[in-house]
Amino acid sequence: MANSMYDFGMIGLGVMGRNLLLNMADHGFAVIGFDKDTEKAQALESAATAGTRVKGVVALAEMISRLERPRRVMMLVPAGQPVDDVLESLKPLLEPGDIVIDGGNSHYTDTLRRVTAMKAAGFHFMGVGVSGGEQGARTGPSIMPGGDQEAYTHVKPMLEAISAKVNGEPCVAYLGKGAAGHYVKMVHNGIEYAIMQLISESYRLLKSAGLDNDQLHQVYKEWNEGPMQSFLLEITADIFLQNDDKSGLRLIDLISDKAGSKGTGKWTSQDAMDLAVPVTIIDTAVSMRTISAYKEERVQASKLYKEPHLPIPAETKLFISQVKEALQFATIMCYAQGMAMLHTASSALDMDIPLPEAVKVWRGGCIIRSALLGTFYTALKDAPELPNLLLNNTVAGLISGKEHNMRAVVVQAAQAGLPAAGFMAALSYFDAYRSEKLPTNLVQAQRDYFGAHTYQRIDMPGSFHTTWQHHS
Ligand code: 6PG
Repeated sequence: MANSMYDFGMIGLGVMGRNLLLNMADHGFAVIGFDKDTEKAQALESAATAGTRVKGVVALAEMISRLERPRRVMMLVPAGQPVDDVLESLKPLLEPGDIVIDGGNSHYTDTLRRVTAMKAAGFHFMGVGVSGGEQGARTGPSIMPGGDQEAYTHVKPMLEAISAKVNGEPCVAYLGKGAAGHYVKMVHNGIEYAIMQLISESYRLLKSAGLDNDQLHQVYKEWNEGPMQSFLLEITADIFLQNDDKSGLRLIDLISDKAGSKGTGKWTSQDAMDLAVPVTIIDTAVSMRTISAYKEERVQASKLYKEPHLPIPAETKLFISQVKEALQFATIMCYAQGMAMLHTASSALDMDIPLPEAVKVWRGGCIIRSALLGTFYTALKDAPELPNLLLNNTVAGLISGKEHNMRAVVVQAAQAGLPAAGFMAALSYFDAYRSEKLPTNLVQAQRDYFGAHTYQRIDMPGSFHTTWQHHS
């Protein structure tokens, strides 16, 4: 079949691109992938399931010429300039009406720019978030498409076929205009950062209470088997059992505490600031990864400021149950912050993001998938315009029983000198959000005092300025 035609093309045959294509082929689509690297092009073909139609090529023009029209092409290349470079090389090869998808973690403003430029050139361009890592790409990722709705109809059957399924429903849905797909993926990653930070804090707390790696494995495994079930807890439980093949020791104890990042969490925080949506746990998670990189300074400071070494006061079994509930409480706050951000961004950035659909898509395949998302989906289906999940009665019920232990954990962490900034941010967010009155009347007064910025009163409308008296 030397000149046979293919349904879908992929640019970039790294592990994600290759696995997505193989997944598509397993669902009956004829797929072709391009990579300049001959080995990668060959690896695609050799990894294909017998009987499927998979071709790897090393010339972009060849791949494009062998695609059915309108051509459907996805690229999975590093975000930034590589995406623009691929688009430039694609343009002379495409015909009007062809569809190009960026499946990487591009910044949404880049995606908006590319949508406009590609449209002017007569092509469809879609930013599509894909989550689930290597394994997810192969067996069923969560897919977050946005942008051109007409183009989406041409790729919908394929994306639905390859996506993860929850209750038989595909974890893919059209998520809004413009760069909505990449925006939703960015917020997904912000939530991912926040939950990972919380789990790492819970690990530190439990370790300080004397749990060894086997016990930590057992605790996270049990948590994952109940209503807290989540992908991140599942992999956390696994991590504590992994032996290092070099030393035979547990690998977790040999891994450096400097955490890397590619930037999507930071983008979420930056954009939340612009939108004036508080995402304090995400901000904290980003800052904690940053502080992790300051290893040399931390070592110096650890000599200057000794750890209090005060024992965790609660008895171990009780403490484990307290940490469990605190983690549940704080995790709900992470989703609440992320969803509140999507709610605001949807209208402020003119994306019309259907929030229930976004949550539905996250229920399976992605890194933040968890049992909680089922509850949030029901809550948002009933009230898609809900500004914050914390205002839903079912969510309120989930939180209120855990508040006591959340406070107990934060107190014990503070007394023992254990860093728990994520937990503290979650609790402070909750306490501020549920406060009818905040002390920010004083901030208003201070602004007016030194800068004549004026203030509003609670007893009459309008803006006021006072000539404040100097008393000291
Ligand atoms: C996913 C992940 C994926 C990737 C992140 C990691 O949903 O599959 O989020 O996109 O693992 O980019 O981000 P950091 O390198 O910034 O932690």
